[in-house]
Amino acid sequence: RQNTNSIVFLKGGIFMIINWFPGHMAKARRLIEENLRLVDVAIELVDARIPWSSTNPMISKLINQKPCILVLNKSDLADKAVLDEWIAYYKTQGRTVIAMDSKGGAGVKQLLGAIRQLAAPKLARWKARGLKTRSVRTIILGIPNVGKSTLINRLAHRNVAKTADRPGETKGKQWVHLGDKLELLDTPGVLWPKLENQVSAYRLAATGAISDTVFDMETVITQLITALSTYYPEQLKTRFKLDELFADPFETIELIGRKRGCIISGGVVDIEKTYKMILKDYREGKIGAISLDRPDEFDEGEPS
Ligand code: G4P
Repeated sequence: RQNTNSIVFLKGGIFMIINWFPGHMAKARRLIEENLRLVDVAIELVDARIPWSSTNPMISKLINQKPCILVLNKSDLADKAVLDEWIAYYKTQGRTVIAMDSKGGAGVKQLLGAIRQLAAPKLARWKARGLKTRSVRTIILGIPNVGKSTLINRLAHRNVAKTADRPGETKGKQWVHLGDKLELLDTPGVLWPKLENQVSAYRLAATGAISDTVFDMETVITQLITALSTYYPEQLKTRFKLDELFADPFETIELIGRKRGCIISGGVVDIEKTYKMILKDYREGKIGAISLDRPDEFDEGEPS
């Protein structure tokens, strides 16, 4: 399936965006601003494996002072120890943060509790002014593929196909009832992915946040193997039955290809096939629960 956003990696470390044109971004932004005016609490969804790379810096500006819950989704695929570090990091920043597995359902209760908790001061103000209380309203925001539709469907107890990513497609506002006086906007706010640096771009590609057809596989897989060799050497060796890892990621990739029998005529490793196999295994969590963003690598917001 094609995402609405795409980044092309060119050899030599350059990448460019081919699909999120300024017009798309402006439209998405306007729509989110409009929808945010309707809600009391915002939910920002990011990928727990890459919470920094899968956020959009614009979100905090758009949300402004509105109460917000940061949901680290796909936590089932993330390294638990690193996930805990991220949770501690966000808490020191005063953020309300929840780890979640929208596919499996873990975290739903905590999320509903957090929404009510963050909305409580507003409800108290309404009550103090003698106003009739309406439902607390919330919205889910995030870049494509972080699991927005999966979470909406999970909260709504329904099992339907993905809603469209394209902003502005739904006419009229639909609210999903989440329980007593709690409503969720059926259309998530879709933002563009972080585009400022190569490190985030490769991680977004590795996790599947951007379309496979448009990035340079070699760049993404060599960076992925470098990260896995550094932080998860045992998982990498176990998954592909390797006795050793090489300093040059390309040599490790070739060895993986050989071990897995990805060979073309003349005994040469079918490198494209090997890339695809590694990527599939990573995305499906077969190499293990792996995080690519780590709080300790960031200095003043940029990867070091
Ligand atoms: P979006 O609306 O933000 O674009 O994301 P969407 O819900 O479509 O989810 C993108 C992919 O991520 C889907 O996989 C979905 O199943 C998966 N996903 C969402 N939340 C979680 C989670 O908490 N844990 C795990 N492991 N996966 C999650 P897909 O391969 O596109 O579809 P499918 O094979 O699941 O049908």
